[in-house]
Amino acid sequence: MTIETSAPPEAGAPLRPNDADPGFGVYVHWPFCLAKCPYCDFNSHVRATPIDEERFVAALSAELAHRAAATPGRTVRSIFFGGGTPSLMRPQTVQSVIDAVAANWSVEADAEVTLEANPTSVEAGRFRGYRAAGVNRLSLGVQALDDADLKALGRRHDVAEAIEAVRIAASIFPRTSFDLIYARPGQSEKAWRAELSRAMKLAGEHLSLYQLTIEPETIFEGLWRAGKLTIPDEELARALFDATQEIAEGAGLPAYEVSNHARPGAESRHNLVYWRYGEYAGVGPGAHGRLVTPEGRRAQATEKHPEMWLTQVESEGHGLVENAPLTAEEQGDEFLLMGLRLREGVDRARFEALSGRPLQQRHIDDLAAEGFVEEDDRGRIRVTHAGMPLLDSIVADLAA
Ligand SMILES: C[S@@+](CC[C@H](N)C(=O)[O-])C[C@H]1O[C@@H](n2cnc3c(N)ncnc32)[C@H](O)[C@@H]1O
Ligand code: SF4
Repeated sequence: MTIETSAPPEAGAPLRPNDADPGFGVYVHWPFCLAKCPYCDFNSHVRATPIDEERFVAALSAELAHRAAATPGRTVRSIFFGGGTPSLMRPQTVQSVIDAVAANWSVEADAEVTLEANPTSVEAGRFRGYRAAGVNRLSLGVQALDDADLKALGRRHDVAEAIEAVRIAASIFPRTSFDLIYARPGQSEKAWRAELSRAMKLAGEHLSLYQLTIEPETIFEGLWRAGKLTIPDEELARALFDATQEIAEGAGLPAYEVSNHARPGAESRHNLVYWRYGEYAGVGPGAHGRLVTPEGRRAQATEKHPEMWLTQVESEGHGLVENAPLTAEEQGDEFLLMGLRLREGVDRARFEALSGRPLQQRHIDDLAAEGFVEEDDRGRIRVTHAGMPLLDSIVADLAA
């Protein structure tokens, strides 16, 4: 099946909240990488021998059929191949998985089909194959426009190779995005401003700009604990965040989420399904899902270890190790946690319907008085620019 999108949906139209229909997406996890980056705690594994992709296709198809049995009648708005490194998949493998999605659900005519790719020249050689398989949006992990920093991040590409991959992707896919990580060890505000301004000239319709997080049990965490890696302090991190907002907004890519920037209308529809607390089926090792069944919304997660996941799917027809109903309270908490990341904010009435409890006006008023949240006359609550760096504690206050 080839899904056509020649232009971003409603390109140029402002993002409108859609509480009545937050959407249904499918996430496919490809858990392999050529090497493990020292900052990364995603479910990614390095294998010395070739991956049996046909065996994975069969298992992914079995999982898709399993999730579809619990979600009859849904229409898929987006498919996302994430990793790990999905650009290590053969295009035929991607095609087979897209076909399996379409065999289990109906798919919107202009569904968004994204694949995450690493920007090496070898992977760029597969881009045409992914496009022919039905991928219409490519998300590239550029990470830095500085060769020394790319090396320090353990990346297998340099700046020139990444820029070439961005150029090739833009010539093949109707929609592209790339990721950068900032607040890197030793990074000054001046250096980041220059790097981001350069990135803006390369950017198409969408950019993900992540602040470096020191994740537990990564090599970076060990170095940081040993005092061998210094990251920006709170003040500098705040200045870098502010510079990011200013430069991206000035270049026509305002933030629509904490770390995601897009031209109006070019937001990632897949990620909007998560943040608007829609439904998504997650398949593959370590994938998460949220499905609404007649018994209520369920939180799902699969076995993380790739070969154990394969074995389980082959014997049980699914790789789930968690499939738990969410209480109304948990749904309310998750809804706030996801929705307040978005510039469009959350709808108070939907929170109350999901959680069965009212939001405490006193908490909203206190946060509004400090300039961290704002509420409009239709009951939408948003975290302001000043509040964004404090998002976690704001969510905790509102959820209390
Ligand atoms: C699934 S990951 C990587 C996809 C792809 N394998 C790659 O490396 O380009 C998606 C994105 O998360 C971001 N990321 C991963 N670890 C991070 C960390 N510790 N701090 C901030 N961003 C991180 C990177 O920008 C990365 O591109
Ligand atoms: S950052 Fe990407 S390439 Fe590096 S280990 Fe994580 S998933 Fe793999």
